[in-house]
Amino acid sequence: MMISKLKSLNSSPYTNFDSTGFKPFFGDIWQSDSPVFDILIEIIKPSLIIEVGSWLGSSAIHMAQGIKKNKLDAVIICVDTWLGSIEHWLNPRWRPWLKMKNGYPQIYFQFLFNVISKGVQNQIIPFPNTSTIAASLFLKYGVKADLIYIDASHEEKDVLKDLESYYPLLSNKGIMFGDDYSLMGVRPALESFSKRNNINHKVLKDENFWIIDRCNPVRPFLRLL
Ligand SMILES: C[S@@+](CC[C@H](N)C(=O)[O-])C[C@H]1O[C@@H](n2cnc3c(N)ncnc32)[C@H](O)[C@@H]1O
Repeated sequence: MMISKLKSLNSSPYTNFDSTGFKPFFGDIWQSDSPVFDILIEIIKPSLIIEVGSWLGSSAIHMAQGIKKNKLDAVIICVDTWLGSIEHWLNPRWRPWLKMKNGYPQIYFQFLFNVISKGVQNQIIPFPNTSTIAASLFLKYGVKADLIYIDASHEEKDVLKDLESYYPLLSNKGIMFGDDYSLMGVRPALESFSKRNNINHKVLKDENFWIIDRCNPVRPFLRLL
């Protein structure tokens, strides 16, 4: 019921997509194919994943492939403005990837093409909006997700807002996680959030991923990561 409501928010984004002139393009891969995604999907067996920040789709597609591999009946809602973060506008390497047309980024269409090219349309539902508006809507709809991946803006105040907005959307067995722990404002935002809400966050062994477990104390398998 909840999933069909979410699907109706952006009905058939892939139907009649005109792929003329597109070829698969993923830019820089960052940590989008990390085994952390595979482990979390295998253990949590989510029915709903929310990804906050999808860009060209690398991490979403990687998670969609994990869903298929584990034969789960699950979907990923990808929340993104597809207008880029501050670093995409500032970095001369990334700025052209916004693909400006009539003064407006077109990256959403490259995201759609990438998803189609990997055959994971059934697993990925794009939700083009700001993270804040999307979270408010999901809250009103009573959405609960088992995995929430936070990877939108890395500015401290934005990360803190995303943590505050998405934590209430976690299911009882849910895990919120992200990477870029050492980048820009991620670490200070997590520290403020954890302190304010008396919640522990754990930094994983590779020291770039962090997780917040809805179960308290943190489940034993997470201590191994
Ligand atoms: C680091 S990229 C995501 C990378 C992606 N998760 C991957 O690993 O392939 C960040 C994305 O967050 C989006 N973004 C930044 N601030 C946002 C906001 N407030 N609301 C929605 N999307 C946002 C940007 O448009 C950009 O596409």
